[in-house]
Amino acid sequence: MSFKKRISLLSAAVALCYGAVQAAETGAQPWMNARLDAGERAGLAVAQMTLDEKLKLVYGYLGADMDNKKTKRPEEAYKQSAGFIYGVPRLGIPNLYETDAGLGVASQAGPDARAATALPSGLNTAATWDVKTAYEGGAMIGAEARGYGFNVVLAGGVNLMREPRNGRNFEYAGEDPLLAGKIVGAQIKGIQSNRVVSTLKHFALNDQETGRTTLNVKIGDQAARMSDLLALQIAREEGNPGAVMCSYNRLNGVHGCESSYLLNEVLKKDWGFKGWVMSDWGAVHSTVPAANAGLDQQSGMPFDLADYFGPPLKEAVLNGWVPQARLDDMVRRILHAMFEHGVVDHPVAPAVQSIDFKANAAVSVKDAQQGMVLLKNDAKLLPLNKSVKRVAVIGGYADRGVMAGGGSSLVYPAGGNAAPELTPKTWPGPVMIYPSSPLKAIQARLPGATVVYNDGKDAAAAAKLARDSDVVVLFATQWTGEGFDMPNLSLPDKQDELIAAVAAANARTVVVLETGGPVTMPWLPKVSSVLEAWYPGTGGGEAIAGVLFGEVNPSGHLPATFPAAESQLPRPALDGFPEVADRRFDVNYHEGAAVGYKWFDLKGLTPLFPFGHGLSYTDFALSDLSAGVKDGVLSASFTVKNVGKVAGKEVAQVYVAPVGARWEAPKRLVGFHKAEVAPGGAVKATISVDPRLLAMYDSASKTWRVAKGDYKVILAADASDKRAVSQVIKLEAAVYDVHGKPLRTSKR
Ligand code: BGC
Repeated sequence: MSFKKRISLLSAAVALCYGAVQAAETGAQPWMNARLDAGERAGLAVAQMTLDEKLKLVYGYLGADMDNKKTKRPEEAYKQSAGFIYGVPRLGIPNLYETDAGLGVASQAGPDARAATALPSGLNTAATWDVKTAYEGGAMIGAEARGYGFNVVLAGGVNLMREPRNGRNFEYAGEDPLLAGKIVGAQIKGIQSNRVVSTLKHFALNDQETGRTTLNVKIGDQAARMSDLLALQIAREEGNPGAVMCSYNRLNGVHGCESSYLLNEVLKKDWGFKGWVMSDWGAVHSTVPAANAGLDQQSGMPFDLADYFGPPLKEAVLNGWVPQARLDDMVRRILHAMFEHGVVDHPVAPAVQSIDFKANAAVSVKDAQQGMVLLKNDAKLLPLNKSVKRVAVIGGYADRGVMAGGGSSLVYPAGGNAAPELTPKTWPGPVMIYPSSPLKAIQARLPGATVVYNDGKDAAAAAKLARDSDVVVLFATQWTGEGFDMPNLSLPDKQDELIAAVAAANARTVVVLETGGPVTMPWLPKVSSVLEAWYPGTGGGEAIAGVLFGEVNPSGHLPATFPAAESQLPRPALDGFPEVADRRFDVNYHEGAAVGYKWFDLKGLTPLFPFGHGLSYTDFALSDLSAGVKDGVLSASFTVKNVGKVAGKEVAQVYVAPVGARWEAPKRLVGFHKAEVAPGGAVKATISVDPRLLAMYDSASKTWRVAKGDYKVILAADASDKRAVSQVIKLEAAVYDVHGKPLRTSKR
């Protein structure tokens, strides 16, 4: 027998033995057999568990010490992490290590924060209108999370922007359910491609921070399903998250984490969600009502007032107040997600794994550059000319770095905070400036020029510098964060006055905004250019400079309307503001499903910048719209032409407006396509429309109903596009189930 043959026989024998050992092992523990389906495996494991083992899995700890409560994290939890849950080692069920990671792997405040890569804000990623970019960002986050030993990622925030003053808008994906749902769904998918669980949140209607734990949102089932819940539903369908986090607020009188309507009915029954519902940190208020309403796991203890899912749950189960079958269901759901997403079969390693920070930095910069929105560019001052001689860079800590949003999503960067003196330094701070300096990145691109920085604190001095310069790049920041809202839509700290003074001194001013969301711009007519750079992430300085100099052509489009004034909003004054601890109040969503541009359309209001707006260094023309219905599905094809001189990307948007039927608002976004087009070139694209976006939801029958009639299909570059082209098509009456699957033709 040849040597080669002997080796291959030997390896076959080894493989046989290994297989036999594995079979024997999984024979004793059949739920470890990866060939079985997740539900079956979960059922087999639950059947082996004692009552106390089950109770362990439904009780989560904060992964950090809590000084005000004098508690320590469990020893096994990673330092300054969001959460920890004990597994069942006897049965091969690993511990759950939770991290916030909406924008990157976050740390709770303290001395041992882990350095990680921060993507730009969620609004920036939504502004890319590009699911591939969202997926890649998610995949990066998931890889760093796994690298740091986490297997549950608290990421997937898709609360709709009903309130532009909401301090957490930067974590979410804007005002439109289709765009937000697709973007966040893709991010979740990317995260879970690393065999970790991702968590859709916050379920549901937690759209402002002021009074977030006590306020009561009032909205009907139909309007909710066509707006906030639709965004969550689409994100769930696209991303298939293993977990969902219920929210702090009350909905129609009931807290999110004990709302049987939200958890049992909408999420689990109607949508068929098989994973688990964890509470937000401090969002549980009871044992029996919460467990029976569908909450599967209490999180972050000692955040809640009591350990509701600790000994009180045991007592409730032993007495039958919470049925044993319900506890089994809670555990089965957790295990289902763990098996389905690879948490059991591909355990995370306790030691930090090597992380490719260089590659991850590139992912962050790319996301930032695809999502920055060029709002205005008169006289084509941008891209900056490299032959410019005297440049003033003013304000926004641009000498040191770029702004980040505050709260639990905060990622701590390598190199630390570039402005550690800023306050507040503790929750919801620290105010973080990532050490990626736009000034340095600008200087590096202008070796022959004089680039002078002024911090903008003294408007007169800044104006003097502006007067003596050929061009001014002024950075304005707005720090927003978890746990508080903006008092209004104005830039803080007298920055409006600063910009007005600088623009009066030199009209060749570019304003770069680093904001959590929409702001008003009283100085807009006076400046040449405005670039909305959101919170641009840990590579923000480089990302901004690359766009300013035209190395990358901006292609972001607004994922939310920028109002001209607070008076245009459904709630001109923010309910419950300013915050008074424990105050209970209602927030009446009288606008129903008419959120964002839909509200502006309905009321005939002209915003400062419409939803979908975004300029480029080239020009595009949208044409050849051809819409039609085939096999009951509406699709629209069109051509995107680049009629300018440089390559670029355009976001073609398709809206539908009913001619006869009445919707919550005159039109809805039903599809979009981001096309990369060479100068002089053209790209053809086709989108097909989810029938739910053409229907009204009927609460009584739990169906989506399309009314027979004429509908205008609109191809546009933003929600108020005057150059939009349109075509009227006919739709037959049709009925779809809760998922948007066709049922039958209706007579209505
Ligand atoms: C936030 C959640 C976060 C959790 C854990 C809460 O304050 O609302 O989004 O995942 O804390 O840090």
